Amino acid sequence: MDYVPLGRTGLRVSAAGLGCGGHSRLGQGSGESRAHSVGIVRAALDLGINFIDTAAVYRTEEIVGDALAGRRDDAIISTKLPIVPPGESPLGQQFVTGESLASSLEESLRRLKTDYVDILHLHGVMPDQYGYCREELLPALDRFRDQGKIRFLGLTERFIHDPQHVMLSRALQDDIWNVVMAGFNLINPSARQRVFAQTRSKEIGTLVMFAVRRALSNSEALTELIADLVQQDLIPSDALEEEDPLGFLRSLGGAGSVVEGAYRFCRHEPGADVVLTGTGNADHLRENVASILSPALAPDCLAQLEELFGAIDSVSGN
Ligand SMILES: NC(=O)c1ccc[n+]([C@@H]2O[C@H](COP(=O)([O-])OP(=O)(O)OC[C@H]3O[C@@H](n4cnc5c(N)ncnc54)[C@H](OP(=O)(O)O)[C@@H]3O)[C@@H](O)[C@H]2O)c1
Repeated sequence: MDYVPLGRTGLRVSAAGLGCGGHSRLGQGSGESRAHSVGIVRAALDLGINFIDTAAVYRTEEIVGDALAGRRDDAIISTKLPIVPPGESPLGQQFVTGESLASSLEESLRRLKTDYVDILHLHGVMPDQYGYCREELLPALDRFRDQGKIRFLGLTERFIHDPQHVMLSRALQDDIWNVVMAGFNLINPSARQRVFAQTRSKEIGTLVMFAVRRALSNSEALTELIADLVQQDLIPSDALEEEDPLGFLRSLGGAGSVVEGAYRFCRHEPGADVVLTGTGNADHLRENVASILSPALAPDCLAQLEELFGAIDSVSGN
């Protein structure tokens, strides 16, 4: 495994991080047993992954807690709390209070079977919700840190609804957040200018989500997305082969598959500290770690990706 500094936190984290959410939720999304999911977390640790990202709403904190029994110190735990109460639309304007955030944190600690988390994020914040988070929830986060219940403050965006990174662009003007999580992939690389430029200059730890997601792990979803981009005149109609639109990741880039190319693209992006991989499949996990540890895609392939997708900022690849 490669280990990298996470911004200025002083943490050394694995370049590959295990994502316990997304569509897979460690296999819980497709009906796998809890024991299977515990096995995925342990397999990740055995591969040298020390960064585990979960969240209250994923319902995988308890699984992470079980997997870490007796080896809490092997992992850096990143978890997230929702900023809207249960049952409310996550995009809405009903917010949790600092007090309810404190009880949610206690519940997360109980599920994770630990007395502290390394990074606590406010989860999926929209641009019009950021002001409330900073004014009303930040004092609670500072208190949790003073109490030793969390080590670092994090913020994640809602990439499907905010593919242009409006929230993070705003939040990064404040000198508050130690770690942020941004959507980034070869089809929408706009975090390069709008997030990584700032996180690099301010040495803020940066986590990448959506490296693969649906569009880059499912050929039908990819074909559909490319057709949409062509229809919107965002890429020329004759630019890509209909049957195998990203075949050049293999022929030019040297990748064994689209998924491999997608993880390698993210891993070698300056400013991307941890690339999260979300899976419920142990073979996928091993393959993805190997991809993340592989060299950068060939320069001609990167140039072609830049020409095709470099200006796209309207899709997430979900
Ligand atoms: N706003 C937020 O805070 C937010 C939002 C989204 C995600 N996240 C975090 O980011 C993490 C990463 O996002 P993600 O879960 O969408 O991960 P991802 O790594 O971008 O994509 C995972 C998807 O690709 C599939 N996949 C993975 N490896 C594969 C392989 N080798 N071959 C074929 N298919 C493969 C997985 O299915 P299989 O299970 O079949 O492998 C899964 O459906 C999440 O788990 C979560 O921790 C945070």
